Amino acid sequence: MTKISKICCIGAGYVGGPTMAVLALKNTDIQFTIVDVNQQRIDQWNSEDLDNLPVYEPGLAEILTQTRNKNLFFSTEIDQAIKEAQIIFISVNTPTKSYGIGKGYAADLKYIEACTRKIAEVATDDKIIVEKSTLPVRTASTIKEILHYKESSCQFQILSNPEFLAEGTAITDLLNPDRVLIGGDIHTAEGRAAIQSLSEIYEKWVPKDKIISTNIWSSELSKLVANAFLAQRISSINSISALCEATEADVEEVAFAIGKDQRIGEKFLKSSVGFGGSCFQKDILNLVYIARSYNLHEVADYWEQVILLNDYQKVRFFQNIMKQMHGTVSEKKIVLLGWAFKKNTNDTRESAAIDIAKLLIEEQAQLHIFDPKVNEKQIVQDLMMKTNFLQEEILGKIKVYTSINQLFDDAHAVVILTEWDEFVSYDWKSIYQQMEQPSFVFDGRNLLKNNDLNSIGFRYFGIGR
Ligand code: NAD
Ligand code: UDX
Repeated sequence: MTKISKICCIGAGYVGGPTMAVLALKNTDIQFTIVDVNQQRIDQWNSEDLDNLPVYEPGLAEILTQTRNKNLFFSTEIDQAIKEAQIIFISVNTPTKSYGIGKGYAADLKYIEACTRKIAEVATDDKIIVEKSTLPVRTASTIKEILHYKESSCQFQILSNPEFLAEGTAITDLLNPDRVLIGGDIHTAEGRAAIQSLSEIYEKWVPKDKIISTNIWSSELSKLVANAFLAQRISSINSISALCEATEADVEEVAFAIGKDQRIGEKFLKSSVGFGGSCFQKDILNLVYIARSYNLHEVADYWEQVILLNDYQKVRFFQNIMKQMHGTVSEKKIVLLGWAFKKNTNDTRESAAIDIAKLLIEEQAQLHIFDPKVNEKQIVQDLMMKTNFLQEEILGKIKVYTSINQLFDDAHAVVILTEWDEFVSYDWKSIYQQMEQPSFVFDGRNLLKNNDLNSIGFRYFGIGR
């Protein structure tokens, strides 16, 4: 087996950055180079200012301090990094297609194909290619086909090694994974050797019994299915939150009671304004598309309902704001607390906050927005993508704050959209004094359920209670 001394990762995003940082921390004898076409992103990764990395993740900056420019490098020299590496991780984005066949459902594989063509073009010796991106089942055969014409001079082994980290806890997830999944060609000696080479990189810190190897299609499909099952739990509890509101049951109590059953388990039963993030919706839509392409329409409809319920939950939350505020928010100052799709990340992709803000803007509300890790530029960009408004128009409808100074002055309502810990410790008595009366709090995360806001005087509305 070839000794692994250099690894390249194509894609310096939310997965490539943290994942390679941890691999580099644990494999000091190997040189890792993360490459990207985005020069600005690479510059940010190389910046001295560790507070302004492109990805905010607790614990990441500390690991970079130990690894960066030692055995971990960020670069735009893609050809050179590919040429030198024995293992190449592909960790580029695979968004939902926004055009043509499969629009709105299928994964757009143009970045995967671009990487594969680049590898085929520049490789001069044998490589192990690792699919780290989340991909439709059977993508490995496409990668293989594109690389095929090179195979006479170089041998390529394709492995699937999906990433299961969640943002906000990426570093602890990577350091203590529930499992590492490696799919490969288990029927050939070369395939098994490639699996072994990758496995050894993880074995530096992951117990062997947590490293699972499967055939490549099972590995690709398992990633989509894991995300579908996780999202399905959230949609299930969110569907029950509507029933709780109608019956005076409390969804927090119901989730606690059912979660105590070990067969159900406690995790991913937190009712919310709706799940966001770059993965759940995209991966379920992709699963739906794949099922339909095999004529499995009942299977597709079953999983699509997870997304439809999530959309319903966001609209339901917005409609409750309108109902409680006497049917109008026009010209009212509404404070949005949180913009990221969950706490401890600066990622806003598919955040429920974007949908809620759009609906409130359509009702002519004046939005005053604060998120501890998301800046004005990102919020304006998200709203431009979601609405047909120009930048100047959006800036006339929202104000973004960098601290909570004056945020609550004369506000009619506060809407909590991300569960940042700091929101709990705010002085809610003093906030109440600063606001218009009656003062509303709509808590899309049930974050302040123990702060007893009603006794302060607020009209407080959580989810499912
Ligand atoms: P991202 O958008 O943060 O990063 C992708 C990077 O790839 C970008 O910086 C982009 O410039 C770069 N890129 C695109 N095409 C390129 C090319 N041809 N050459 C070089 N660089 C190129 O995406 P992400 O969130 O890191 O996700 C990457 C993959 O991992 C996706 O398939 C996603 O579904 C999967 N995934 C994401 C998460 C997550 O939490 N974000 C978790 C598990 C799996
Ligand atoms: C998810 C998967 O958890 C991870 O394994 C995969 O690799 C990538 O996709 P991520 O999207 O980063 O990770 O975060 P996750 O913690 O799953 O949260 C996704 C969304 O669901 C967030 O908006 C979160 O607030 C919401 N959520 C999560 C709930 O509303 N309730 C819950 O009980 C859990």
